[in-house]
Order: sequence, then C-alpha cells, then structure tokens
Amino acid sequence: MSIPSALETKGTRSMSKAIRFGIVGCGRIGARHAGHISSNPRATLVAVCDIVEERADAFAAEYGGTALYTLDDLLEQDLDVVSICTPSGMHADMSTRTLGAGNHVLCEKPMTLNLEDCDRVIRAEKKSGKKFFLVKQNRFNKPVKILKDMVFNRRLGRISLINSDVFWNRNRAYYEKDDWKGTMAQDGGALMTQCSHFLDLMIWIGGKAVSVSARMANLSHDYIETEDTGLITIAFESGAIGSLQYTTGVYRHNFEGSMTVIGTDGTIKIGGQYLNTLEYWDVANIPNPDIGDEAPLLPGADGTYKGSMSRHGDVIENVVGVLFDGVEIKTNSLQGRESIEVMQAAYISALEGREVSLPLAPGDAGFKLNEQVPLSGRSKGG
Ligand SMILES: NC(=O)c1ccc[n+]([C@@H]2O[C@H](COP(=O)([O-])OP(=O)(O)OC[C@H]3O[C@@H](n4cnc5c(N)ncnc54)[C@H](O)[C@@H]3O)[C@@H](O)[C@H]2O)c1
Repeated sequence: MSIPSALETKGTRSMSKAIRFGIVGCGRIGARHAGHISSNPRATLVAVCDIVEERADAFAAEYGGTALYTLDDLLEQDLDVVSICTPSGMHADMSTRTLGAGNHVLCEKPMTLNLEDCDRVIRAEKKSGKKFFLVKQNRFNKPVKILKDMVFNRRLGRISLINSDVFWNRNRAYYEKDDWKGTMAQDGGALMTQCSHFLDLMIWIGGKAVSVSARMANLSHDYIETEDTGLITIAFESGAIGSLQYTTGVYRHNFEGSMTVIGTDGTIKIGGQYLNTLEYWDVANIPNPDIGDEAPLLPGADGTYKGSMSRHGDVIENVVGVLFDGVEIKTNSLQGRESIEVMQAAYISALEGREVSLPLAPGDAGFKLNEQVPLSGRSKGG
C-alpha cells in the first residue's frame, strides 16, 4: 500500500516543512500533546479548541496557535492532523467529523466506548483516505519494547500465562475535578480509562483473543457510576491464558502497574508503577539487559497519584514519521478496535455472568457500554 505523504494532504497546499496540528480538548492530556507538538521540529501547532473558552485562550497563550471554541471552527482551519483530547465518549463523533473534513486524526485512548463506534470511525477513515492514529504511548516504553521483542522472536518459548496487575489510587478529588470522570456515558469505567493501556499491551503481546470472562464491582468509590475493580481472564488463540486484575481503590497512592509473561524458556516481569522497570528476568541463554528505571513518571494534577509515562513525544514523532517518511503507524484503527472488542466482551461478561466469545456475535457487537445503567447502581452527582 502506498502511503500518501503529509505533503499531499489538504487542498492545494504544496510541500510544507512541518505537519500542521490542531488540538481539541485543552485539558490535562491536551497539554501533553501541545508540549510535544511545540517541541517537535517537524510539527507546528496551528490552533487549539476548547468549549471552555478560558482554557483555549490559556493554551494558545502558552503553546501558540489560534484559540477557538468549537470543533467546527477548528475544522475550518488549514490543518493536517487534529489531536482529539476530549472526554472518551466524544472520541467517535469528533474523529468521524475530523476525518470527514479531510484531516488525519490522532485520538487519545480509548478509541471509542463501543465497537459500533469503532466501526463508524474505521468507515470514515476509509472514505476520507486520511489516517487514524491512536495514542498508546506505553508501546514505546523500553521494558515493554524488550518484552514484545522477546515474545515476538520466540525467545520465551511457548507462552502459558500473561498476567497484568494494575493497583492504583484514584481518589475523590480526581473524580470530582471533572464532571465526565466516573460516568458511564463519557468515561466508561476503570477498565476503559485506567487499564486500557495494560489490556492493549496484553493482546499486543499475546496475540488474538478468543474468549473473555470477567467479574467487576464498584467497591470504594460510591460517588461514581462505573466499576472501580475487576478481574478479567482472556483465552488466547495460541492457548495462552491472560489475567488482568485491577482496582483504582488502593489506599493513598498508586502501588503497581505490572505485567508478567511466563513461557517454557523464560519469565519476564515488567513493573514499577507504570511498566517502567524490568523487575524480573530469567530467560534461557539471554542475560538481563539491566536497563534500570527508564524514565520518571509525571505527577498527576492533584499531586496524590502519578499520571502516565510521558511517551507522547514518541507518539507525535510517529505521526510525523508516517506522514513525512512513510514509517508504519504504531497503533492504527484496527488495533484500537481489537482492544475495544476485548474490553466490550469483558463488560458484557461481568454484567451478564457468562463467558463471551470473540469475535463478538452480532448481539454482543451491538452492546453499548455508554448506554448502560450505572454499574455501581448510582448516578454521579445524583
Ligand atoms: N494516553 C494517556 O495515558 C491518557 C492520560 C490521560 C487521559 N487520556 C485520555 O484523554 C482524554 C481526555 O482526558 P483528560 O484527563 O485530559 O480530560 P480533561 O477533562 O482534563 O480535558 C478534556 C477537555 O475537553 C474539553 N471539552 C469537553 N467537551 C468539549 C467539546 N465539545 N469541544 C471542545 N472541548 C471540549 C474540556 O473542557 C476539557 O478541557 C480522555 O479520553 C482520556 O482517557 C489519556
């Protein structure tokens, strides 16, 4: 497949020296995009947009570009790529509209909150001839890359178990800061929001999933709508078994975000709070590469928990590299869809108490997490 260069993008504009970015959503993660776009020599920030006007104004003052207050106005600009950094429930509509207006999309995770919306975005991508990039910055973490290479090159032998533990703290201040956090309609739940990176890596490493069963509950945040705790088991086509245990109810601080892969020829555990350290290594004929703690974590907004790894610079560089040099997209729309399908299976399993096969049967494919009654039995703020 030939990859159109960035330079064939909008209208009649000829060779440009930098990819022209816009950002919708000037919140916490939007700032991460803005910082890395501004510091990438082959990218330029043309316009930023937020429904809260002061946020867009403050962003433009800090990072440059024109401040705008609606997506429609942003899409009137001469752009190549729009970063979608709004609440998760808005990703599908905003991605579809942005592609339809002739721009590439860089969308924050999760791609959407249900599978039908993924398919809608993929159809819009095909129709537009533009590209959809999903942010999965942890694929760039050094320990993650080493683990992926070892499994891909069969250095761990036959894989039996892929286990991920996400034991984190998200407190009342976190959920109360923004209306959308902890809601079924816009957030989805701890699996969709906090754990989607981990689940994504499990299937990136483990390959195709064929069935999922899950148990979920809200056990320590009675002021939000979604689950905060869960246990998911995944059967992979290879025969390997996956397990993901998670909670946002750890006392006071994030405690662990780890992944262990066990094969007939070796065991590797990557961990730290966010897959940033190589914690255990015992692999036939291959010594521990001893990479230490690869990078500091970024503090969260309220200071009590740690945010995600700052690998967004690699994500922006991948967008630029794809559009200028024709390198491969690190996480494309089909890979984003794969994660959403497994997560949707997990929510169906937890709600209906049954094992769910993949690919999803038509009835399950039409399930919409964001239209379910609150899993906690409570409405946020109600
Ligand atoms: N990749 C990661 O590790 C990572 C980390 C944090 C958040 N995220 C994702 O990024 C997204 C945003 O999260 P956040 O923590 O930055 O949220 P946030 O609440 O801090 O920011 C969202 C912004 O979108 C704006 N907004 C809402 N509706 C809008 C509209 N119709 N038009 C324009 N602007 C609108 C809000 O005013 C707000 O400023 C979520 O999908 C989240 O899952 C990803």
